[in-house]
Amino acid sequence: MFLPPLLFLSLLTSSAPVFALNFDWEKIQLTEAETRNYSAIQFAGPLSNAPKKNCRSIPGDADWPTEAQWAKFNKTLGGALLKPRPLAAACYSGPQYDANRCQELKQMWSNTFLHMSDPTSIMSQWSSGNTCVPTSNPNSTCSQGGYPVYVVNATTVRHVQLAVNFARNSNIRLVVKNSGHDFNGKSIGGNALSVWTHNLKALTYHTNYSAPEYTGRAVAYGAGIQAFDAYKAMSTYNMTMIVAGGSTVGLAGGFVQGGGHSTYTSFYGLAADQVLRIQAVTASGKFVNADAEENEDLYWAFRGGGGGTYGIITSIVVKAFPVTPVASGSIAFSTVANPAIKNSTAVPVETFWKGVKEYWAYCIALCDAGGLGYNFIRHTHSANTTGLTFTTSISLPNHTIPQYRQFIRPLIQKLNTIGIPLPLPPIQRFNNYYTRDIPNAVSGDTVGNTRFASRFFLRSNYDTHSALEEMHAAIRDFVEGGGYTLHGINYSPTLEVAGNPDNAVHPAFRETIMHAEGFDSSAWWDGKTPIASISSQKSQHDRLQSYMQKWRDITPGSGSYINEGDAQEPEWKDAFFGSNYERLAAVKRRWDRWGLFYTVSGVGSDEWEVKGSSGGGREGVLTQDGRLCRVGV
Ligand SMILES: Cc1cc2nc3c(=O)[nH]c(=O)nc-3n(C[C@H](O)[C@H](O)[C@H](O)COP(=O)(O)OP(=O)(O)OC[C@H]3O[C@@H](n4cnc5c(N)ncnc54)[C@H](O)[C@@H]3O)c2cc1C
Ligand SMILES: *[C@@H]1O[C@H](CO)[C@@H](O)[C@H](O)[C@H]1NC(C)=O
Ligand SMILES: *[C@@H]1O[C@H](CO)[C@@H](O)[C@H](O)[C@H]1NC(C)=O
Ligand SMILES: *[C@@H]1O[C@H](CO)[C@@H](O)[C@H](O)[C@H]1NC(C)=O
Ligand SMILES: *[C@@H]1O[C@H](CO)[C@@H](O)[C@H](O)[C@H]1NC(C)=O
Ligand SMILES: *[C@@H]1O[C@H](CO)[C@@H](O)[C@H](O)[C@H]1NC(C)=O
Ligand SMILES: *[C@@H]1O[C@H](CO)[C@@H](O)[C@H](O)[C@H]1NC(C)=O
Ligand SMILES: *[C@@H]1O[C@H](CO)[C@@H](O)[C@H](O)[C@H]1NC(C)=O
Ligand SMILES: *[C@@H]1O[C@H](CO)[C@@H](O)[C@H](O)[C@H]1NC(C)=O
Ligand SMILES: *[C@@H]1O[C@H](CO)[C@@H](O)[C@H](O)[C@H]1NC(C)=O
Repeated sequence: MFLPPLLFLSLLTSSAPVFALNFDWEKIQLTEAETRNYSAIQFAGPLSNAPKKNCRSIPGDADWPTEAQWAKFNKTLGGALLKPRPLAAACYSGPQYDANRCQELKQMWSNTFLHMSDPTSIMSQWSSGNTCVPTSNPNSTCSQGGYPVYVVNATTVRHVQLAVNFARNSNIRLVVKNSGHDFNGKSIGGNALSVWTHNLKALTYHTNYSAPEYTGRAVAYGAGIQAFDAYKAMSTYNMTMIVAGGSTVGLAGGFVQGGGHSTYTSFYGLAADQVLRIQAVTASGKFVNADAEENEDLYWAFRGGGGGTYGIITSIVVKAFPVTPVASGSIAFSTVANPAIKNSTAVPVETFWKGVKEYWAYCIALCDAGGLGYNFIRHTHSANTTGLTFTTSISLPNHTIPQYRQFIRPLIQKLNTIGIPLPLPPIQRFNNYYTRDIPNAVSGDTVGNTRFASRFFLRSNYDTHSALEEMHAAIRDFVEGGGYTLHGINYSPTLEVAGNPDNAVHPAFRETIMHAEGFDSSAWWDGKTPIASISSQKSQHDRLQSYMQKWRDITPGSGSYINEGDAQEPEWKDAFFGSNYERLAAVKRRWDRWGLFYTVSGVGSDEWEVKGSSGGGREGVLTQDGRLCRVGV
């Protein structure tokens, strides 16, 4: 066959992939041909190196693209470029001032629906620097702060490729926002161009999918799919898949890439353990397939190595399961009569802690039965007394109600014996756990906006009497001495339960019996006031970390869940990635030698820092309002 030289060349250098695509919108790709007369959108060549510049360009810099250049870029995007003001801009005098809208924002501010549907807003806004909050003083100023300047509202692979190439070639900070649930500002960045994946909505159920190491039920979904979209699909197709409990959490972004825990974690493993195939735009702008036979290193890193680090996933294929019923019930006891808890009788403090310890002693059995424990120890107030309340919701997949009752009875009897008069709890059985509550699930969750820290407690903290005593003492000290709230999640995604995947989730997950989060609920902040008015963030953080140190001391080799941890975790490499860190860093260098993808406490983030963020009271808090620069320049 005769090919004209130019066409021949374009075939040779074409970025068009040869793998099977999951969705039609993935066929819409950037071609070499269209980039030839437009250098700002060109792909990175195999030899192109990191830019010499030490800092990312920001508006006002001589090399920041001109209005005309942005307009040309927008035209190439087919008009998908947005320049959004922060969500709360309606509360500030100026062209966007809208008193009614502002009032509405104030009422809805803690609802996840509000933030997930906005091109830049996020749930935990402290990381933005709070330069634009829903204020009652329209005369104060709203600035862009940690929110990106431009956003590509992506609906095709081509949009994602254009954003990646434009940002890399123009030395602009690039961020990726999906739902905006990340607690530490990983989905925003000051002076950045953002790729907003929220509208990459598509989902296909395959009854008999073939992947390199798997044949069977599977689901392909686009990067914008959220847990509630999957709840509906589970109902439609009569199957179960692994999703977040928070109904608005995005699946292919931070959730799967950070591990992803759920009600089925001790039964089927983590969300990252279910992944069969990933399609993504990498830092060079190329669209690639990653699975057990192709780009294996990328495939490995994407499954647990953290979101926003190795490339931008456009779609993903995961295993699905037959409908897997769950039986569930809750128990609670308190040191104060608590009107919020039915049948609660106040027990003495020592009895309370004995009861908590009895629960810990039950956790290995709970996890080994495939179950989940979702517990809290809270400081609660009743009339004029302050006390402690323990609650735990215990869920057991694939258990009937009689089996559940049989499983829970010994724990209840133990609690009764030590003086906690609890009846057997009412038990519900959900045929399809996630579809139980679809109407409520689509109205969003309430989010707090606070900082916390976390740690995995391991099987070795539970499996001897002395270890359990030691762990219990550390938790009691944390709650009573520190005054903190404890939120523990009991699960055990062992390698065996997970089907022996070779992926990048923190190895400590495989030994975990409880992921424990701690925070100061009295410092809970509703996001409506500038953080500068909250005193001494740094000393609060230092104090929390001094208590966390006691947990770290008794959990050597353990870690913390990257999606539910402290952005300023000491020894964060170990804490979030463990022994995988160096291997992940090598994958990162291979696929992103430009350092295009930066997220706070992500792999390779030690090479960068956000400079110039400023504001009273935020000393020592890692916010995203500034300029991203290489460390030490
Ligand atoms: C109310 C609530 C409930 C939660 N429930 C659970 C739960 O049940 N289980 C659990 O494990 N976690 C849970 N989380 C934590 C959740 O997993 C993380 O917040 C996670 O980062 C959310 O991912 P996202 O993509 O939706 O969010 P985003 O904040 O939009 O993104 C998170 C990170 O992923 C990156 N990213 C997003 N999309 C892509 C993409 N397509 N390609 C590459 N990188 C991408 C972003 O850049 C960012 O670094 C919950 C959080 C909240 C606030
Ligand atoms: C680049 O070339 C194509 C034809 O190959 C043309 O349609 C397009 O307008 C050109 N773009 C610019 C920016 O010159
Ligand atoms: C991009 O183009 C579209 C359609 O022309 C327009 O609506 C939009 O405002 C433009 N975006 C920017 C940032 O100018
Ligand atoms: C805002 O400024 C205007 C004009 O200076 C003034 O009339 C108004 O009272 C101010 N509002 C507040 C809430 O301070
Ligand atoms: C983003 O794109 C989608 C699909 O074209 C469109 O429906 C939506 O309105 C856009 N969002 C914004 C904020 O422009
Ligand atoms: C699933 O596909 C495989 C081949 O890919 C085939 O061997 C098998 O019979 C199919 N199973 C069903 C239930 O269709
Ligand atoms: C749904 O799946 C379950 C378990 O595989 C099966 O028992 C049930 O009959 C199915 N229901 C429908 C409506 O297909
Ligand atoms: C409360 O106690 C009553 C009587 O003992 C019992 O019938 C009921 O189920 C209990 N309710 C709960 C929520 O435990
Ligand atoms: C709470 O304290 C107030 C004032 O000290 C007192 O009047 C009231 O009776 C107390 N209530 C209870 C339930 O103890
Ligand atoms: C669920 O339990 C039944 C018996 O109780 C068992 O036969 C079946 O294998 C279990 N299912 C899974 C997926 O483990």
